[in-house]
Amino acid sequence: MTYVDELCAIVGDPHVLTDADVRATYETDWLRQWHGETPCVVRPSSPEEVAAVLRVAAAAGVAIVPQGGNTGLVGGSVPRNGAILLSLQRFTALGPVDPMSMQVTAGAGVTIEALQQHARASGLDFAVDWGARASATVGGAVSTNAGGSRVVRFGAMRPQVMGLQAVLADGSIIDQLAGLPKETAGLHLPSLLVGSEGTLAVVTAARLRLVPWYRHTAAALIACDSLTDAVLLLPELRRLPSLDAVELMMPEALAVACEFLGVRPPINAHEAGAFVMVDCAAHSDPSEELVDLLADLRGVLAIGPKREALYKVRDHITIAIGALGAPLKLDVAVPVENLDRLVRLVYKVIPTGARAILFGHLAEGNVHVNILGADASQDEVRERVLQATIELGGTISAEHGIGVAKVDWLKRQKGPAAYAAMRAIKKALDPKNLLNPGVLFATAPRRRRAARG
Ligand code: MLT
Ligand code: ZN
Repeated sequence: MTYVDELCAIVGDPHVLTDADVRATYETDWLRQWHGETPCVVRPSSPEEVAAVLRVAAAAGVAIVPQGGNTGLVGGSVPRNGAILLSLQRFTALGPVDPMSMQVTAGAGVTIEALQQHARASGLDFAVDWGARASATVGGAVSTNAGGSRVVRFGAMRPQVMGLQAVLADGSIIDQLAGLPKETAGLHLPSLLVGSEGTLAVVTAARLRLVPWYRHTAAALIACDSLTDAVLLLPELRRLPSLDAVELMMPEALAVACEFLGVRPPINAHEAGAFVMVDCAAHSDPSEELVDLLADLRGVLAIGPKREALYKVRDHITIAIGALGAPLKLDVAVPVENLDRLVRLVYKVIPTGARAILFGHLAEGNVHVNILGADASQDEVRERVLQATIELGGTISAEHGIGVAKVDWLKRQKGPAAYAAMRAIKKALDPKNLLNPGVLFATAPRRRRAARG
């Protein structure tokens, strides 16, 4: 009996996908930047089945790559070196919204959009939101500690995670879904697993914090003379009680999204050096407080139109860039007072003819650097941008994760002691390096038993 036969016995033949055409969608990420091959995609539907799959994989000496919506940007969820692709797509259960605790339990395969709709049907909301919401899943968001546009108000994924259900490499199941708001009983394993990118356990469900659903919204697009002016807006904007998002779009980013959508730029501001999109949300219309605040601000050139149109442009930047080619993508963050210095450096280090498209989340000093046409200079550009990020007190990954894309950099940012502690945790929980090898930590290709025969 081959290990594929054993997997079929666990999850049923229809959920072990070996056909090349069917595997293909799992083997390449949504932006077609990362690709790898897998002998099979296995789609369990319960933590017990995941546990059995992990035991079979361990016995066969074959690694496992967990995958949710496959919307990652750092290659962490595509198969490598013949690993089995473990899809969490069938974990779509959504528990009842508990208004008492303001929490809900969601399966790892629930999309962020489905979770938001489910919460809103009960008058609440899920706080973490970004453009890929229709495909991105709870499991992937937990695993990468995803952020998005509302971090300024509610934080990233980690503070939303009240508990987790997860399967460890040895097949044991951690069931910590009670969601107690206060607990100091030892190490908080759910917090450890958030951001571990599938290297310590396979997350199967999460107990998530919900927030009020603010139905009244108002957004503005502010054209600033410069990025410096954009950063100086922050203390003013933070005075808004309804502040929900402060997004940064450098002029190129706004332009590529508008071109992609075939729409006119939302505001006519050819001289602008940076655009800031402010979103407010409250239980009553926040337009007046937003307009009042912006009226007094220095550096505001224009206030743009409707919120939906602005979000449409904002949410399409990544896809618009992807349609132009395969960029060098870096998701970095620095203390916001250093953002201008970092961005200047990016423009300085790109080679002649390359195109830098920058956007991100201003309040967190988080900029998504996309360089098209860096070609042979890619490695040098990456080196200089990431090194500068670290020197400016920042992080080489703000919300996309390390994946396989930045493994060489983790130690440089964290320092030897923290890095050694991380490796020790990995070794303790996954001594055979079965779970997502090559992600977070560099690893040599594994030897494996043949899938068939
Ligand atoms: C975003 O903010 O839209 C996402 O992080 C995606 C990206 O950086 O491309
Ligand atoms: Zn982002």
